Amino acid sequence: MHIAETRQALAEAGAAEFVRRAREAVEGHGRFRVALAGGATPRGVYARLADRQGPYRAQIPWERTFVLFGDERQVAPDHDDSNFRMASETLLRHVPVPEEQVHRMRGENPDALRAAEEYEEILRDVFRLGDGERPRFDLVLLGMGADGHTASIFPGTPAAREAARLAMAVKLDPGPDRITLTLPVFNSAAAALFLVSGTEKAEAARQALGGASDLPAAQVRPDRGDLLWLLDRDAAAGLPR
Ligand code: 6PG
Repeated sequence: MHIAETRQALAEAGAAEFVRRAREAVEGHGRFRVALAGGATPRGVYARLADRQGPYRAQIPWERTFVLFGDERQVAPDHDDSNFRMASETLLRHVPVPEEQVHRMRGENPDALRAAEEYEEILRDVFRLGDGERPRFDLVLLGMGADGHTASIFPGTPAAREAARLAMAVKLDPGPDRITLTLPVFNSAAAALFLVSGTEKAEAARQALGGASDLPAAQVRPDRGDLLWLLDRDAAAGLPR
């Protein structure tokens, strides 16, 4: 766990960790496969990674990087709510990741179940999975909602109990519906990095980090990997000193 004084400091620390994981992965096995998080908090990290004047962009082996997504809203890729659009505007359009190495979830598909199945096929292809195998991301970036959800795994929903599928459709009311990777995928990662900021997250962070919590964010504990929580001071306000 690392507590950053400000949201800007959180962005710096998140970008530095992203660089470290990217370089370790490429040195280790020649590729860096990352699942990006949606929402607002990661924007600062992505902007720092993309910044040509910053210390991060030039350190990342973009040509060996494979970008996937932890979840997506069931909207077109140019929709305001699209996580792909957010990541494109803040990061992907500004760095030389080969286009064919960016795999978005097709939120425009009106059949979210089909879109989830399609994404499972993409995972099997990118990670060259055999039957029953799970993808081992080098890094998954995750946020957390005030209710303790992460990606599109919301408390008390089927996704929070899913133990087999790699990706699934999530019905929300109100919508839009979602497509999300599942806990088995997140817990197969080499590293999971939570980016959490804001006072509205303090109670969920206190629960999730206090142990014995069934919040979805607390269920992300990589079986053979690192778990890192990056919080700003506001989100960490409920944690014991
Ligand atoms: C999404 C994310 C979601 C997000 C949290 C926190 O698609 O919105 O997957 O899990 O990370 O809701 O969002 P903020 O970073 O905007 O607070």
